[in-house]
Amino acid sequence: MLTKKLRGRDFISLMNYSREELETILDVSLDLKRKLAMGEECEVLKNKTLAMVFANPSTRTRTSFEAAMTQLGGHAQFHTPQVMQIAHHETWIDTAKVLDRYVEGIMIRMYGLEKYGMARDILSVMADAAEIPVFNALDDKEHPFQIMADLMTMIEKLGPNWREKKIVMSWAYSERVKSAGVPQTMAIAASLLGMNLTLAYPKKYDVDPDYMAFANKVAEESGAKIDVVNDVFEASKSADVIYAKSWGSFMMSKEEDQEYRKQFKDNWCIAKKHFDLANKQASFMHCLPADRNLEVKDEIIDGPMSVVYDQAENRLHTEKAILALSMRQG
Ligand code: CP
Repeated sequence: MLTKKLRGRDFISLMNYSREELETILDVSLDLKRKLAMGEECEVLKNKTLAMVFANPSTRTRTSFEAAMTQLGGHAQFHTPQVMQIAHHETWIDTAKVLDRYVEGIMIRMYGLEKYGMARDILSVMADAAEIPVFNALDDKEHPFQIMADLMTMIEKLGPNWREKKIVMSWAYSERVKSAGVPQTMAIAASLLGMNLTLAYPKKYDVDPDYMAFANKVAEESGAKIDVVNDVFEASKSADVIYAKSWGSFMMSKEEDQEYRKQFKDNWCIAKKHFDLANKQASFMHCLPADRNLEVKDEIIDGPMSVVYDQAENRLHTEKAILALSMRQG
């Protein structure tokens, strides 16, 4: 357990965390879930405030963070750049320095800016300016809170040998060009934790090479198995989890991507034909919101193999663990 080392830490990239630190967060998440189920209060952030800045829409993240802070005895504030002085060109540095004087943590969601990496640069600038922890609730590079909830769900569903089970993170068809934050963060987590991950995507949907380089290097030490295949049917064979997620290509403009991806509409919508190739007890995962009958057929997301609502619930428990471990003093 490395609880002290987590105090005051930003949670922006899983690349800055060790295997032991991620395992500590997961252990505390499972404990907090048990405590909530037994009606045990855990107000370790009493009188503490989290400022949440949402530059993009959210259902799960906003609601679960607010509930997390309430359950920990504190409070979460909801802000958008449109109603902050950012709208009048106040800098992100000044914003971070001022929030730092009022609250004990800053959470930010920001993606889809003009260029890949711009949102991460803003998060990094804020983290440097503020002494309090800054939390990444999805930027253009990673979705670390989502992946912690996904890992917790895998532990619960796959049992003690969960690291050896075949997890397929599959690109899926969508009309919207989405962030690659989920597959990129999963590759980092899988490499650190020694997991068995297959990334499946059509040609031209490679994720950020910096993430693959990090994952492949770490995998050499951790014993993780990180495979890449361009055929979703091959990937589905003997899978224990099929996780569907659409993301955009780094090799094409948004308009070219929307045209190019149409050829993948049928094969890359997760359906019974994929689960027929998977292991018998295989689970379906999706971070939600799902584009139903584009990314995944209703028969799957509403079927017995779907664990998507457990995944969504685990956002609450893992967020509570990370907030408590980093914002708690003393
Ligand atoms: N999965 C996720 O981050 O959901 P929201 O966009 O609704 O917050």
